[in-house]
Amino acid sequence: MRNRDFNVSTRPPVVHHLRVSWFYRHCLRPVLFAQEAEHAHEFSLKMLSRFSRNSVACAAAGAFYAATPLPVEVFGLKFPNPIGLAAGMDKFAAALPFWERMGFGFCELGGVTLRAQPGNPSPRMFRAPAAGAIVNRMGFNNPGAETFAQALAKWKSSGRWPKHPVGINLGKSKVTPLEKAAEDYAGSFRLLRDYAEFFVINVSSPNTPGLRQLQDKSALDEILAAVCELQKPGNRPAILVKVAPDLTFEALDEILELASARNLSGIVATNTTLSRPETDDPRLRAVYSETGGLSGRPLRDRSTEIIRHIYKQTRAQLPIIGVGGIFSADDAWEKIAAGASLVQIYTALVYEGPGLPKTIVAGLVQRMKKEGVRELKQIASMS
Ligand SMILES: Cc1cc2nc3c(=O)[nH]c(=O)nc-3n(C[C@H](O)[C@H](O)[C@H](O)COP(=O)(O)O)c2cc1C
Repeated sequence: MRNRDFNVSTRPPVVHHLRVSWFYRHCLRPVLFAQEAEHAHEFSLKMLSRFSRNSVACAAAGAFYAATPLPVEVFGLKFPNPIGLAAGMDKFAAALPFWERMGFGFCELGGVTLRAQPGNPSPRMFRAPAAGAIVNRMGFNNPGAETFAQALAKWKSSGRWPKHPVGINLGKSKVTPLEKAAEDYAGSFRLLRDYAEFFVINVSSPNTPGLRQLQDKSALDEILAAVCELQKPGNRPAILVKVAPDLTFEALDEILELASARNLSGIVATNTTLSRPETDDPRLRAVYSETGGLSGRPLRDRSTEIIRHIYKQTRAQLPIIGVGGIFSADDAWEKIAAGASLVQIYTALVYEGPGLPKTIVAGLVQRMKKEGVRELKQIASMS
């Protein structure tokens, strides 16, 4: 397991973040948003994948988007900053080296399942720009754990593996019945365990029939037991569980009871929601009426509520990765104040563009200075 040191600096970033986000909003985003959501996603990933193989492009991106160091240590891993890429963006490990160049402090690849699968029929991703939201029912389209492992092996041998921690999100193959779920997750873990510092057991995606039932204590316990059994001495990647925002606090507490029994490293809170906000806007209503999980701004407060509950319930003893509707440094601050040690973004990256990690880190550093906070973990005790 690699643990690297990162320099502490509070110097402001060289390039002004506003200029970066202006270019995305006014030049790139209109071109991307003219395309169907998944096409735009594929196009962007193809470009980032090309850049990832090109040293000059990587160096240029690094110079432009590098975030101010804001180091944090969580579950024994050192992160150069607390802003991560959320699962679902890079399901093929296509742009692994680029996320670090884009200023992220870590990335979560996947979701990956044991069997390769195409996911649900298209269209399956819908933007709601007026709400800063996305509805998706991708259904774990991915190349399968074996091919994914080969892609990661190639990045390892290319010398382009990032310095920041890498995580992998594991889902269940659609063809695997629920009662065989533990074997499915464990099969993926066996193939991928040498390639990531942390794994996220995703039992909270709303787009695989029955998957959320695996959040039940006994089903989840079986999965965790099967995965933990495969951890090797000297290589014990951190294991986290990703929860749905639609769980009751009672159901959440049952999951938390497993945390100490199974030595969980943390909880990722949260996945997308099945609920929909009320709206009179007919265009928003059309998007919200699509089947699938809702992410982005409308998810923000519920996800923060879940984080606050976990933090209190575990007496701050279990690290939380907070995710859901983070668009700004203030949003990230709110999640950290609720008890998150790290945060992740997906939807805001689509709306705000690649300058966002750097902007959020710079905003956090600025606010920490203003409020006289020296370490991120002090923020939670202030709320
Ligand atoms: C298109 C899309 C695909 C996603 N795929 C996954 C996935 O494979 N596994 C997972 O755990 N979460 C997945 N997510 C959920 C995100 O990781 C994140 O939890 C959620 O979108 C909330 O964060 P956000 O509001 O910043 O987008 C996906 C989200 C979107 C929008």
